[in-house]
Formats: sequence, structure tokens, C-alpha cells
Amino acid sequence: MLKFTQIHKTYNDNGQPHTALQEVSAEINAGESVALCGPSGSGKSTLLNICGLLDSDYQGELSLDGQIVPKCADSLTQIRRAHIGFIFQRYNLVPVMTVLENIELPLMMLNMPSAQRLELAAKMAVQVGLKDHINKRPDQLSGGQQQRVAIARALVKRPKLVIADEPTANLDTTTANLVMDMMAALGQQYGTTFLMATHDDRMLHRFARRFNLQDGELQQVTTTNSFWRAG
Ligand SMILES: Nc1ncnc2c1ncn2[C@@H]1O[C@H](COP(=O)(O)OP(=O)(O)OP(=O)(O)O)[C@@H](O)[C@H]1O
Ligand SMILES: [Mg+2]
Repeated sequence: MLKFTQIHKTYNDNGQPHTALQEVSAEINAGESVALCGPSGSGKSTLLNICGLLDSDYQGELSLDGQIVPKCADSLTQIRRAHIGFIFQRYNLVPVMTVLENIELPLMMLNMPSAQRLELAAKMAVQVGLKDHINKRPDQLSGGQQQRVAIARALVKRPKLVIADEPTANLDTTTANLVMDMMAALGQQYGTTFLMATHDDRMLHRFARRFNLQDGELQQVTTTNSFWRAG
């Protein structure tokens, strides 16, 4: 589903080249969920930005569903809007929009007619347990509720791939588990592939595969018998 080959990324750090990723390669299957682990500064967000088609300034090759991802901005935007959802540590909701409008947003970007948009967004709001909050603004919600809005927003267009960058880092353990359960359940229902950066040890047992980044190198790919699962 998602394959990256010899991805090499160098930042310009005040005129000095700084290598953030050193020729990392791996493949993720459709419907699979992979944790991307590693200490702060190891390159997790850098790799997620590339895999999420937010950054095209890298060497190496990325392919999605067997198609090589082009590096031209217009095509990237199109592919990203159609096929990739995002969940961030700080939720990144639009503060002046209601819960329902936030969830609808990715469908607006796809020019979906309003009635269809509303129906899908309202259904997602129910699925993440926010039926009674759809007209509230993000600042009227708890962190866990805001992250559930972000999950609904990421999944409403049924993307092939969801990129999640430390989605539970700001949440207490009970809420973090609830949010992970929700991602796992919806991901399984819709067959979504997840690539999730986390250094949240509370969550690692949930993943069948983990990529470990250390100083920009993908050091191990661990395969265990566990599955992306609830609790
Ligand atoms: N825009 C940038 N310009 C220069 N250097 C950068 C930039 N973004 C990241 N870096 C550097 O690249 C390396 C990898 O950063 P990255 O944000 O990918 O790490 P991370 O694993 O996501 O860390 P964290 O767990 O703290 O989020 C770090 O050394 C960082 O300082
Ligand atoms: Mg990061």
C-alpha cells in the first residue's frame, strides 16, 4: 500500500546540511497499522511529512498503491486530499468552525455536494461519540473530545492512509486508550492503513509492527504476533 525506498532527507540548518533521514526503506500493507518509534529528533515527523505528501523535498522514492508518487505540488495536493487523512498531537482543528464543520472540511476540499457532506460528517460524529456536541466549537471540548473530532475528520473521506503524529501524547491514559480504541475500530471497519508516530509506551503493545528510527536510520522492523486492536 505504502512503500518508501531509500528516502533521504537533508534540512538546511542555518546554512549547514543536517541529515534527518538516511536512506530509509520499508513497506506497509493495506489495512495494516504500523507504529513509528524513536527518540525526540530521530526523524519521525520528517518521515510522516514525506509519507503524508506534505513534503516533497527529499531523495528516494515513495509509492502509494503501486503508483510512484510524483513530486510536483499540484499532483501531491490532489492525491493527499483524496487519499490521506491526518491526526496530530495538538488536534489542529479550525477554532472558528463547529465540530460538524471541522469534520466536513476534507469533503469540502473534494467539492462534495453539501447534503452528502453533511450526512457523512454527521454519521462520523456519531461514530466517535460526539452526536450531542456537533454544534460546539473546539474550545468548548475536552482534549479527548477534540482528538475524536480529529479522528472523525481524518476518516470521513475513507482515506487509504492515515498519518498520525503522536496522537495520544497530550492525553491521560484512560482517554488515550479510548482514542486508540476508536482509531483501531474505525480503521478496521474501513480497512484504513495507519502510520503512527509515537513514543507512548502505553500504546506500543497494540501494534503488530514497529519501525524504530534512531538518528535518521530505520534500525529495526519488529514483527510480533499481536494485532492492531482495542485495549
Ligand atoms: N525545518 C527544519 N529545519 C531544520 N532542521 C529540522 C527541521 N525539522 C526538523 N529538523 C531536524 O531534523 C531532525 C528530525 O526531526 P523530527 O521533527 O523529524 O524528529 P521527531 O522524531 O519527530 O522528534 P519529536 O519526537 O521531538 O517530535 C531533528 O534533528 C530536527 O532538529
Ligand atoms: Mg515529531
